[in-house]
Amino acid sequence: MKAVVTNGNGAFGLKSVKVPTPGRGEVLVKVIAASQNPTDWKTAMLHLKPGNILGCDFAGVIADIGPDVDASLMITRGKRVAGAVHGGVSPNGAFAEYVTVLADMVIAIPDKLSFEDASQLGIACYTTCQCLYQELHLPTPLEPLEVPMDVLIWSGTSSTGQYAVQFAKLAGLRVLSTASPKNFELVKDLGADEVFDYADSKTARKIFAATSGTLKHAVDCISEGMTPNQVSMSLSKEGGTIATLLPYESRKKGVETRFVLAYKFFGKDIEFPFVFPADQEHRKNAPVYCRLIQEVITCFGLKATPVRIFPYGLASVSDGFEYMRSGKLSAEKITYRISDTPGLDKWDVAPTGSVRGSS
Ligand SMILES: NC(=O)c1ccc[n+]([C@@H]2O[C@H](COP(=O)([O-])OP(=O)(O)OC[C@H]3O[C@@H](n4cnc5c(N)ncnc54)[C@H](OP(=O)(O)O)[C@@H]3O)[C@@H](O)[C@H]2O)c1
Repeated sequence: MKAVVTNGNGAFGLKSVKVPTPGRGEVLVKVIAASQNPTDWKTAMLHLKPGNILGCDFAGVIADIGPDVDASLMITRGKRVAGAVHGGVSPNGAFAEYVTVLADMVIAIPDKLSFEDASQLGIACYTTCQCLYQELHLPTPLEPLEVPMDVLIWSGTSSTGQYAVQFAKLAGLRVLSTASPKNFELVKDLGADEVFDYADSKTARKIFAATSGTLKHAVDCISEGMTPNQVSMSLSKEGGTIATLLPYESRKKGVETRFVLAYKFFGKDIEFPFVFPADQEHRKNAPVYCRLIQEVITCFGLKATPVRIFPYGLASVSDGFEYMRSGKLSAEKITYRISDTPGLDKWDVAPTGSVRGSS
């Protein structure tokens, strides 16, 4: 198969490699579309060993089923699924024609959801669940609050933020968020009750006032630059809890930060580049959250982050990295259709979701 493979000196390229074999409890997915996250280019720069396949987020169809896959998961060949793997650290990644993944971590996707939209669910939705449920213990859309409670989702335009706003709103929370003014409407359409300009130096004070100084819960979807201070200052005088996507300590008394790492879902030691030991509590929660994501999509639907397709599939990954690193990305998801890769057969995706191809 073709895949985007590291060459060991911080560079990578499109290469022909062996199709991975699904191990115990795993499935092989034929990838139809893959989405890009900042972690992809950050991982590529870590000078990892040669032969690793980049890319985390994918959507596609189940092509093979490994041994000991739990029958209750109702995994069948041809089923449409999405999810994420820890790309870039082994010869298995989403920027490839095939990827192997734990069967209990795939999200079944409804026929009406395109592969392109579904390919962004993995990292963004896993992270949303870790932040809102594992760290902040907030209610889920399946058990919504009757009396709203405030939550701040800092950066309602980021990949994680766009889903966190939707999950929080569906759970009956009053959602405050931030964006640049050109994206205020987009974040309101996702369900935010109030949106503030993150570049306004008074925003933390405005959020503090809008919540009458009682805000206790926040997700910082940026977690660098000014945001550790801005999010902390939005919280009540007594403090509160912030789920962060990059590690930091708050300088405000009473504020606890809880760093979330989507990769912890896989239950393995992580070197990124610091070592995070495997956490079985996260691994245990992973299938529970994957079922929750699936149910929320089926019962309520979720708005996808606007997709920006790069034209040459896997051959566009270096352009996609450059676009993201240069800071051009705004409220959108860089997405690759694998069949757009030069030299690969075109795949004809029928509206029912079944896939016909000539290879
Ligand atoms: N720990 C984890 O597991 C995990 C998971 C996912 C992401 N992350 C990390 O989280 C960060 C964001 O990643 P992402 O993919 O979610 O985001 P992204 O989609 O790349 O974020 C782009 C958006 O961020 C907004 N933005 C930029 N600076 C901002 C600020 N100071 N305050 C509020 N919004 C701001 C921009 O909004 P406008 O367009 O409105 O200007 C832009 O639309 C990255 O560092 C990533 O590595 C970590």
